[in-house]
Amino acid sequence: MAIRNQLRLLLTAGSLLTAAFANPLHKRFDDDDDEDDTPLPLVIWHGLGDTYNAEGIRGVAELAEAVNPGTLVYVIRMDDDASKDRSATFLGNVTEQIEKACIDIASHPILSTAPAIDALGFSQGGQFLRGYVERCNKPPVRSLVTFGSQHNGISEFRACSSSDWICRAAMALLKGNAWTNLVQSRLVPAQYYRNPAQFDSYLEYSNFLADINNERAFKNQKYKENISKLANLVLYMFADDTTVVPKETAWFEDVNGTEVTPLRARKLYSEDWIGLRELDRKGGLKFLTTPGDHMQLSEKVLNDTFEEFYGPVRRVLI
Ligand SMILES: *[C@@H]1O[C@H](CO)[C@@H](O)[C@H](O)[C@H]1NC(C)=O
Ligand SMILES: *[C@@H]1O[C@H](CO)[C@@H](O)[C@H](O)[C@H]1NC(C)=O
Ligand SMILES: *[C@@H]1O[C@H](CO)[C@@H](O)[C@H](O)[C@H]1NC(C)=O
Ligand SMILES: *[C@@H]1O[C@H](CO)[C@@H](O)[C@H](O)[C@H]1NC(C)=O
Repeated sequence: MAIRNQLRLLLTAGSLLTAAFANPLHKRFDDDDDEDDTPLPLVIWHGLGDTYNAEGIRGVAELAEAVNPGTLVYVIRMDDDASKDRSATFLGNVTEQIEKACIDIASHPILSTAPAIDALGFSQGGQFLRGYVERCNKPPVRSLVTFGSQHNGISEFRACSSSDWICRAAMALLKGNAWTNLVQSRLVPAQYYRNPAQFDSYLEYSNFLADINNERAFKNQKYKENISKLANLVLYMFADDTTVVPKETAWFEDVNGTEVTPLRARKLYSEDWIGLRELDRKGGLKFLTTPGDHMQLSEKVLNDTFEEFYGPVRRVLI
């Protein structure tokens, strides 16, 4: 008995080692039947003023790998040069930025072979990843988790710190008018600016948000299909967010002055312009809160997220 157990242990250890070599970290997804144990790759899109290789983002990637060993993490970047990547969070055409992310992901040697990917969006990176789902989704996203994202836009621009000259140069484009073609094609936050007091201008000129939220007369049915096919759309709001105005935008709430309309009471939902109602009915839409100001993320919340929504295919059903 003892010997048999030892033998079994040896065999198990031996086959684990073999398995480890046969399935290196960056495994391709085109083969065998133990595919279900392989965590899906995770794609991260960082927020305004951040860079793809910043310490904080690297820490998040390491945590994702620690919680779900073997996860390939890819951080979306607009440029390999970190300072250009940072400047692209302020300046650029969001439609073109999403197109670049789509091409980079679809042509990545590992991501392109995955049956699906998971996605994690920080702040504006959250609505941009939603743009990826609606417009490309190749490979398709299983779970999209967003932290403090501006899904229903912002009604105020945030102030730049005095030493942040890229931010200040970008914001100088505004000159009080968000609705010119120049601003809509260049200033990133203007492309998700949505002031209810200037709603007609928003509908006419918004280069990004009005389209991705299907708010115009023409509704893109593919956007709706793609969102409703997600396994999970997890919307985290920071309870004490003072950076994003209004903070309820993280939950698609419409805030006009003091009037707050929850998503489920909006036409966007009742007429299901982008598939949120369908997703909600199958249990895939989650509204969560985490304490703290904008992007004050705790390791615990990240760990819980990675455990619940990411990882092996079999854990979170598509
Ligand atoms: C929706 O997703 C599919 C793949 O799942 C993709 O081919 C398509 O481009 C996406 N969006 C639109 C607008 O067609
Ligand atoms: C942003 O880029 C897209 C794709 O190149 C283009 O169709 C659109 O007109 C641009 N937006 C503005 C406001 O220039
Ligand atoms: C927001 O409120 C203002 C003032 O009450 C009103 O004029 C405007 O039409 C409202 N906008 C929307 C989009 O409901
Ligand atoms: C998060 O998960 C990592 C990896 O499993 C673990 O080392 C760390 O202690 C966890 N942190 C918290 C706060 O639970």
